[in-house]
Amino acid sequence: MSTVSLESFRAEIDRLRADATAALDAAGRDDAFEKARIEFLGAKSGRLKAIQKLLGGLAAADRPAGGKHFNEAKEAITAALVQAQSRLAGGVAEVEAIDVTLPGDPVRIGHLHPITQTIRRVQEIMARLGFESVDGPEVEDQWHNFEALAIGAEHPARDPLDNFYLAVARGTDPLLLRSQTSTVQIRVMERRKPPLRIVSLGRVYRPDTADATHYPMFHQVEGLLVEPGTTMAHLKSVLRLFASSFLGGDVHVRFRPSFFPFTEPSVEVDMEWGGRWIEMGGAGMVDPAVLEAVGYDPATVSGFAFGLGVERIAARRYGVADIRDFYKNDVRFLEQF
Ligand code: PHE
Repeated sequence: MSTVSLESFRAEIDRLRADATAALDAAGRDDAFEKARIEFLGAKSGRLKAIQKLLGGLAAADRPAGGKHFNEAKEAITAALVQAQSRLAGGVAEVEAIDVTLPGDPVRIGHLHPITQTIRRVQEIMARLGFESVDGPEVEDQWHNFEALAIGAEHPARDPLDNFYLAVARGTDPLLLRSQTSTVQIRVMERRKPPLRIVSLGRVYRPDTADATHYPMFHQVEGLLVEPGTTMAHLKSVLRLFASSFLGGDVHVRFRPSFFPFTEPSVEVDMEWGGRWIEMGGAGMVDPAVLEAVGYDPATVSGFAFGLGVERIAARRYGVADIRDFYKNDVRFLEQF
């Protein structure tokens, strides 16, 4: 018994065919294409599938005609689908064409900051003279930054206006950002027995107003040698060897009398290179009071210490007139080193 008339079956198919081709022709590169494919040609619940099921409801005599009509529609819809597919694929290829044989965009490779380069170079030169590189903390206590270095409680160098004391109190012993790398001399001597040859490079902090030769943070290179029989002559020889290795052969080193609480005698160290004398830092023989403070016997060992400004020697070597340039991080400046 037929439940569907051939006419209504054909009408149904024609509507489906019109809907399907219209939707597929209009589909763009969004998900409209995929939606249309599922709606009309979906294997489980697509509209074409639903109509195919109606075929069985036609009178037996109408089935061949109905089947033919159905097949034509199916072909037309499938053709519209294939056409839409290639239209969309063509569009994609045009927009996203990539020539994989072209060289890629080069990755920008930087290099070490000139101050870091200077630090490495100083470490290398000093290593050849037998000095081991060591590190110390940047947050220090009163003992290592002042007391063990014979800088007493009333010394002006401890003035809060000349130091970055930290707000975090630790009992009665306030902490501060170290104002000099001489702290590392103490830390190493406390841990080790002589003989010693160490060098320590790192940041120090002082509340200075920034100008061409000052900055609230800068770097120092600290050298310490403790061996029996050490004299000022050894100190000057080491500094001269260092200076001529770092700056070039024709460097002169000059000592001027000075004072530091932790060295005796004490000197200012100047270097002359290319016709100009520049003050590079301080030095001297380690004061017997300092040797005693760390448990050494001043009767059997002596030593020398020096502290130079890393920015100063870097500026001298590279011809930089204003040390603030080291910290602006302007790539046009940094690229030159
Ligand atoms: N620590 C001293 C300063 O910062 C420099 C120095 C180091 C002097 C070692 C003598 C010996 O000024």
